[in-house]
Amino acid sequence: MAEVILRQVEKQYSNGFKAVHGIDLTIKEGEFMVFVGPSGCAKSTTLRMIAGLEDITAGEVIIGDRCVNHLPPKDRGISMVFQNYALYPHMSVYENMAFGLRQQKLEKLEIERRINEAAETLEITQLLNNKPGEMSGGQRQRVALGRAMVRKPDVFLFDEPLSNLDAKLRVSTRISIAQLHQDLKAEGQNATMIYVTHDQVEAMTLGDRICVLNQGRIMQVDTPMNLYHLPANKFVAGFIGSPAMNLIVATLIKENEHVYTQLACGTRFLLPDDKAQKVSDKIGQKVWFGMRPEHISTVANTSQAPSEQGDIALTHINVIESMGNELYLYCKLGNEQIISRIPFNPDDSVKHNEDHYMKFDMSHCHLFDIETEQALLY
Ligand SMILES: Nc1ncnc2c1ncn2[C@@H]1O[C@H](COP(=O)(O)OP(=O)(O)O)[C@@H](O)[C@H]1O
Ligand SMILES: [Mg+2]
Repeated sequence: MAEVILRQVEKQYSNGFKAVHGIDLTIKEGEFMVFVGPSGCAKSTTLRMIAGLEDITAGEVIIGDRCVNHLPPKDRGISMVFQNYALYPHMSVYENMAFGLRQQKLEKLEIERRINEAAETLEITQLLNNKPGEMSGGQRQRVALGRAMVRKPDVFLFDEPLSNLDAKLRVSTRISIAQLHQDLKAEGQNATMIYVTHDQVEAMTLGDRICVLNQGRIMQVDTPMNLYHLPANKFVAGFIGSPAMNLIVATLIKENEHVYTQLACGTRFLLPDDKAQKVSDKIGQKVWFGMRPEHISTVANTSQAPSEQGDIALTHINVIESMGNELYLYCKLGNEQIISRIPFNPDDSVKHNEDHYMKFDMSHCHLFDIETEQALLY
């Protein structure tokens, strides 16, 4: 059971490349924290510094109440699960799981008890005598999870553990990991989990909180819900959510006491009063105007022209992708490419290669500063 604290942690590799630029983060005891970000943003580097597999150039890593900067991995109370399983190929599943415990000089009976218990939880009891080469990727990853579990670490570290699995197994193993976290909690073992992924679905579904990284810097740390609904900056807004948020350069203009976001093509949308007040000092300036695809919908009556409400625009639908239950509409609005996401409705008449009026739900719009890219509305 341990809190993990990063204080001004930096990493410069021996070739001079600075991968991590001063990260400050507190991961609470028992928390499931996900590091997410594009490839190369330093998720693995950060995790490996926590694990002790990579030197820390500057700053402090604290696990429990100890600064672990100079402790070897085996003394940090952590277990790590890797993308490529890292099992010993010549050892059976049982031996793989027992190996670390024997090094810890645990008694034979205790080792057996822990392995049987973990195997049962992970449904790999019948595999205990198999060698890794005789198993599927999903089974191997369960063994790797089991090997981490039996050590009863204070902190579990996962580096993209599901990346080598096919889509279906990825979902079932993801659920096993969530279940493991809950079970340990229920047993009073408040294991802290730090999980690295580039997959935002994994991040959103597993994380109590998510730390979004970009180019070795923290962009935002928050709950999945807050990241989605209140992204702190344009990067997080564009990274979290699929299809991605529409982000368009617009100018804030004021006319007859109303504030509008006006696109380059002249189309304008009326900002609700509460939002308009927050940007009253930005009139005449450019901003990033953000709209999630689900907040742009087709207007049933195509003869409906832009209204007084200022939330309807004429678009040209180029492509329609059908997901079965919903449709993604790729539309052109002036020179901008936008995506709308609407529920599938058999009575709907939307067709590609047609002009269509679309309603922008401005109560859900986001605005970001054009230079700092920080959120302006919350
Ligand atoms: N041993 C190394 N030497 C130099 N640069 C490295 C080394 N390992 C990783 N990097 C660089 O550090 C950055 C972060 O890498 P990494 O932590 O692996 O990213 P991620 O796990 O987010 O994909 C990348 O630009 C990568 O090329
Ligand atoms: Mg990585």
